[in-house]
Amino acid sequence: MNHKSILIAIISFCLSFQLSAQNKTIDEKVDSVLRLMTLEEKVGQMTQYASFWSTGPKSPEGDKLKDIAEGRVGSLLNIVGTDKARTMQELTQKSRLKIPLILGLDVIHGFKTTFPIPIAEASSWDMNVVEQSARIAATEASAGGVNWTFAPMVDITRDPRWGRVMEGAGEDPYLGARVAAARVKGFIGAGLGSKDAIMCTAKHFAAYGAGIGGREYNSADMSERTLHEIYLPPFKAAVEAGVSTIMNSLHDLNGIPTTGNSYLVRKVLKGDWNFQGFVISDWGSIAELMTHTYVKDSIEAAWVAIHGGTDMDMECRAYRNQLPALVASGKVDIALIDDAVRRILRKKFELGLFGNPYKFCDEGREKQVLSNPQHRIIARDVAKRSIVLLKNTGSILPLKSTKKIALIGPLATSKTDMLGSWSLAKFDDGEVATLYDALLKRVGKEHLVYAKGCGVEDTSRVGFNQAIEAAKAADLVVVSVGEKREMSGEAASRSNLQLPGVQEQLIKALYETGKPVVVLINAGRPLVFNWTADHVPAILYAWWLGSEAGNAMADVLFGDYNPSAKLPITFPRNEGQVPIYYNHHHTGRPPLGDSNSAEYKGGYLDLVYSPKFHFGYGLSYTTFEYSDFIITPLNDDDNLIKVSFTITNTGKVAGEEVAQLYIRDRVSMPVRPVMELKGFTKLMLQPSEKQIVEFILNKEKLSYYDKDMKWALEPGTFEIMVGAASNDIKFKVNFEVPKQ
Ligand code: NOJ
Repeated sequence: MNHKSILIAIISFCLSFQLSAQNKTIDEKVDSVLRLMTLEEKVGQMTQYASFWSTGPKSPEGDKLKDIAEGRVGSLLNIVGTDKARTMQELTQKSRLKIPLILGLDVIHGFKTTFPIPIAEASSWDMNVVEQSARIAATEASAGGVNWTFAPMVDITRDPRWGRVMEGAGEDPYLGARVAAARVKGFIGAGLGSKDAIMCTAKHFAAYGAGIGGREYNSADMSERTLHEIYLPPFKAAVEAGVSTIMNSLHDLNGIPTTGNSYLVRKVLKGDWNFQGFVISDWGSIAELMTHTYVKDSIEAAWVAIHGGTDMDMECRAYRNQLPALVASGKVDIALIDDAVRRILRKKFELGLFGNPYKFCDEGREKQVLSNPQHRIIARDVAKRSIVLLKNTGSILPLKSTKKIALIGPLATSKTDMLGSWSLAKFDDGEVATLYDALLKRVGKEHLVYAKGCGVEDTSRVGFNQAIEAAKAADLVVVSVGEKREMSGEAASRSNLQLPGVQEQLIKALYETGKPVVVLINAGRPLVFNWTADHVPAILYAWWLGSEAGNAMADVLFGDYNPSAKLPITFPRNEGQVPIYYNHHHTGRPPLGDSNSAEYKGGYLDLVYSPKFHFGYGLSYTTFEYSDFIITPLNDDDNLIKVSFTITNTGKVAGEEVAQLYIRDRVSMPVRPVMELKGFTKLMLQPSEKQIVEFILNKEKLSYYDKDMKWALEPGTFEIMVGAASNDIKFKVNFEVPKQ
C-alpha cells in the first residue's frame, strides 16, 4: 500500500468502524485493523514496557511516552491508578491507529485488599474460596486502571528452598490444576468484556519450579514424562478455563531456554492445546537468551523467541529493535508477526478497549470499589480458611477463656510482613490487622502483655529475659514467629529452611517456663522447626495472610473458626530431604517404614525418610469418622468406578473436612507413583452430622503416559484409597480395570 491508500483506508476504517463493528466477528475486526498496520506498528503491538517501577533488572530507558504516542507500544506493566491509566491511554489516542494499551500488573494475591499468599489459599482446598479471592482482586484491579494480571503462577514445586513456592499451589498436579482453573475463573468472572474482568496469565511456562537445587532461575532437567504428568497439567487446566495469556520463564528446560522453546509453545501450547491467547516473555527473558549463551546477539535472540512462539516482548526491546530488519531481510516470515499481532489485538477487542480505551479509567468506580468494606470481610474469611492446624495436643486450642496471654515474637506487631511478597506495597500497610491488635481487641489490655523477644533474623538473645518474664506473668503464651516478607518470593531462594535466627531458641526458652505455649508461624514456604514440632503442644501454620492476617489468626485461636486447611506441600525434616514429595515412584528397594538402619534399603543413614508433615495433612478442633466405604463398578463408556463413603462429625463442634481420593497402579509399565491424588471434596458438618461422599473415577483419571509416552488406560489392578491426608488413609481396596 502507498501512503495515499493507507490514509484513505485509515479514514474509512475510523468512520466505518463504529457503524460496522457490531456486525463483525472479533476476528474480522482484528483483520481490518491488521490490514492498516505498518510493520513498525505491528512490532509495536508486540512490545511491552515497564511504566512506573521495575520488577526486574533495570532495563534500557528511551522515550517511552513518545513511543506510545507514535503507536510503537502494545502494553505497559507496573501501573496502578485510573489517573495514570488515563494519561497513558490518552497518549495512544494521539497515535495514527489509536490502538489502546493493555495495562498489566502482578496482581498475585489481591490488589488493594491483600489476600493470603497463593500457597496459603491452596491450603484451603476450597475452590470457591480461591475463585472468590481472584474475583475480588480482579474487581479492584479493574477499578484501579489495570486490565491484565500476571497470575496465576501455576508452577508445581517440590522444593521449598525455592522462594516462589509462596506464589503457587504446592507440589501436586491435580490440586494445582484445580487451583489454576479456579483462579482463572475468578479473574475473568463473567468473561472478558465485563467491566470487572481482567486478563490473566498462567506462568511460567514451564517447569520453572523445578530449578535444580531450588535455586532461583536455575535450569530444570527432567524427563518428558515428568514434564507432562507433573508440571504441565495446571497450565492445561488454565488454558481450558480460558486463561488469556501465558508467560514464558527465565530458565532453560533440558538445555532449551523456555523463552524460545518451540516444543513447549508452538507444539504443545498453541498446537496440541489449541491456545488462542498470546504468549508474553518474562521480564527481559528474550535478551537473556544471550546470557544463557544460547544465542550470540539480540538479532538471534529475537529470531529464536519469535520462532519459539513468544508474541510479546516484556521489557527488553529485542523485538522492537530487531524484528523489522529480520522481516525485511526475509529471515522472519511476516506471517509469524501477523499471527502474534492478531492474538494481541483479539484480546484488546475482547477486553472492550477498542470500543472505549478509558474503560478501566473510571475515577468514581475506583473510589467506590477500592473502599468497599465487604472486601475486607471476605479477605478475613479466606485468611482463616488458609491456616493449617499442625498440632493440638491436649486440645489446648481453641483458647477457652480470657486468661492472661503473653504474646511474644517479632511478627506479632508486624504489618508489612503479614502482607507477604508480591503484595502491592504501594498501598498503606497501616491498614493491616496485626495479631497484637486483634488480640487486644478481644481480650483487652488487662489480659494481654507483649514482648518481642527477638527479631526474625536476630542472632542475639538479649530480648529473651523480658519475654520470659512476660510469659511467667501470664497463663498462656502465644508465640508469633516465621519469615519476613522478603525472605520468600522472587529471587528469594534459601538453603537453610530452619526458623530464621534465634526464634526457635526463643520458643524453647518460653516452653521452659512451664506455661502452655501456642506457636503461630507466618512464612512463605515450608520451614523446618523440629524441636517446636516435637515439644510445643499447639502449632498453627498461618503462612502470610494479607490485610486481615491478625483477625483471621485470632478467629482460629479462639475457635470462632474451626481450622480446616490441609498442607498442599510436604514439609521436610531438614534440607537434606529436599526435594521431597508424596507422589514419588515405587523403587526397587524402598525404605522399611521409618527405619533408617536396614541394609540395602533406600533411606538415609542419618535420618528417617518420611517427612515431618505430610501432603494433605491438617487438623481440626473436631474429629471425623469415615465409614461405609463402597466401590461400585460403572457400566459407563467413560466412568469406571464410583467410590462412596460416609463422613461423620464425631466431635463437639461444627467443622469442615477435606476428604481425599488417591490411586495407585499395582503393577505397571512404566513404574508409577506410590500414590496420586485424583479427587477431593470439602464438606461442612455439624456435630453428629453425617454425609455421604461420592467420587467418580473416569478413564482420564486412571490413564497415564505408557512406556511409549502414549496417553493410555492400562488394564490391571489399581488400588483406590480414601483418607484425610496422604498419610492417613482410612480405606483401600483393589479395583480391576478390564481390557478394553
Ligand atoms: C519477573 C517474574 O518472573 C514474573 O513472574 C513477573 O510477572 C514479571 N517479573 C513482571 O513483574
